[in-house]
Amino acid sequence: MVPNLVIGPTSIGSAVLTGFSVQASGDKALGEYLSAECVTCHQLTGHSDGIPPIIGWPETGFVGVMSQFRNKNRHKPAMQTIAGRLSEEEIAAPAAYFGSPKSTSHSR
Ligand code: HEC
Repeated sequence: MVPNLVIGPTSIGSAVLTGFSVQASGDKALGEYLSAECVTCHQLTGHSDGIPPIIGWPETGFVGVMSQFRNKNRHKPAMQTIAGRLSEEEIAAPAAYFGSPKSTSHSR
């Protein structure tokens, strides 16, 4: 278990961006579950209606952007709130899921 709660907001940035991309092979089943919230805004078709599509991203890029929202280095209140609620594992999971939306699980 990663001791998320003891990491302060200032130390989270580099730790997340370096440490976590290394282990960014998230759980796709969990990702699918978590994606239910995301797809109320982000379309799985890849179309953009003012909200950018988030499918097909490389996992590390996805995790990096989510970390920026979480650290409030990217100022989008909606995504800051959402990303701020997620643990590292809960960011890696949708990263894996959205990175390969066609395959539900264990396709590697
Ligand atoms: C309330 C609507 C809403 C929900 C729910 C939501 N998002 Fe977003 N998301 C947005 C908006 C709006 C943006 C565009 C922010 C910007 O302009 O940078 C965005 C941007 C993003 C981006 C960056 C896309 C890019 O091209 O820069 C990622 C990655 C992302 N969201 C992931 C997620 C994930 C993962 C979830 C579910 C855990 C989620 N979002 C749920 C509204 C939402």
